[in-house]
Amino acid sequence: MQEQFGLFVHWGLYALTAYQEQVRARLRLPRADYHRLMAAFNPVRYDPDAWVDLAWQAGMRYIFFTAKHHDGFCLWDTRQTDFNIMNTPYKRDVLRLLADACDRRGMKLSLYYSIPDWNHPNAYNPASSHQCPPEAGDQPDTVRYRAFLKEQIRELLTGYGPVYTLFWDIPPHIADPEINAFVRALQPGILINDRGYDPGDFSTPERQVPDGAWFTRPTEACQSVGRQSWGYRFQEDYYTTRYLASSIDKVMAMGGSYLLNVGPMADGRIDPVSQEKVRTVGDWYTRVAESLTGIEPVAGKLVDSSGNQPFLAVARGSTWYLHFYDGLSAGGVTLKPVQEKPKEVILLNNGQPVAYAVTTLPTSWHWDTQELDQPCLHLFNLPAESFCHEPVVIKMIW
Ligand code: GLC
Repeated sequence: MQEQFGLFVHWGLYALTAYQEQVRARLRLPRADYHRLMAAFNPVRYDPDAWVDLAWQAGMRYIFFTAKHHDGFCLWDTRQTDFNIMNTPYKRDVLRLLADACDRRGMKLSLYYSIPDWNHPNAYNPASSHQCPPEAGDQPDTVRYRAFLKEQIRELLTGYGPVYTLFWDIPPHIADPEINAFVRALQPGILINDRGYDPGDFSTPERQVPDGAWFTRPTEACQSVGRQSWGYRFQEDYYTTRYLASSIDKVMAMGGSYLLNVGPMADGRIDPVSQEKVRTVGDWYTRVAESLTGIEPVAGKLVDSSGNQPFLAVARGSTWYLHFYDGLSAGGVTLKPVQEKPKEVILLNNGQPVAYAVTTLPTSWHWDTQELDQPCLHLFNLPAESFCHEPVVIKMIW
């Protein structure tokens, strides 16, 4: 993928409930009741430049916006359904305003589109998940629904400038490669995720960090600032920034991209706690970003032999970066089997040089075998205590 770090934004009528983006299904609300929210949606404090600035300062270079979530409510001026932003008291195309703000900043725009649509009479698909049962008068018909979906995609991909990536949500379990071909014809060069009508271009692990090595397929992991919801939630259980930065570091050091999500409030503002999460994570990210760009895994297995602290080693040319995504448990690293001295070692978190030597360490006891431990590269006097709240990245220049 071209970009590494993006802001995911879940916004829609559900923000009014401050509950969760799937509130209609989670609380089993009839369609007509949910529709009443439309009359109350008036985000007078919506300032897309403020969203874009927040993301940009955190080092994010794309914004992924929920044009339509499962509820079927459309945040653009669509001609395919009345259930859209133009029929709220706000009456303005919020996607257009966001696209313009992105354009002003050079921020890329990506679009999320839910295949489940709890408003559309043809959308019900028993083969998929996240379905509300059809209501009286609905006529489930996945073929007719795809005709509607294509017209919406045509509007989204022809009316708002370049779209960097498309995020289908909830696999329909229907194979129809024609849909992504249609998308690509409208936006050549667009990247498409793996939750649509064919495998697309990239994978999307959600709320979990896969264990293991370098990704074999382009991958974009996503996670929200809080545990309960992607949309704005009043009683949210926010993650610690240490937890968020740790999963971001791990995913990126495996070659993946990362989408960190916020759910703006119904008035259009991003709540202060979410903003602070983005800022704090962004502050760490911008200090270490060079270690995550244009990298490949270091060949061979490196270990921290005395501490067993987990890390991922990546390289760009003759520079190595060691990613201690869970932080350091002590102020030293014993790097085996490295026996040469690098030209320079830097702690990227603060840009300061790190002390090092190639030496034999006292960790193992070998009297009985009469063998001394092999010398190896020892990094020491690291200010681990000052950085116990974030992943630690060590740069080594060879
Ligand atoms: C899940 C949820 C959805 C959310 C998405 C983000 O699929 O159903 O609410 O938008 O994850 O990846």
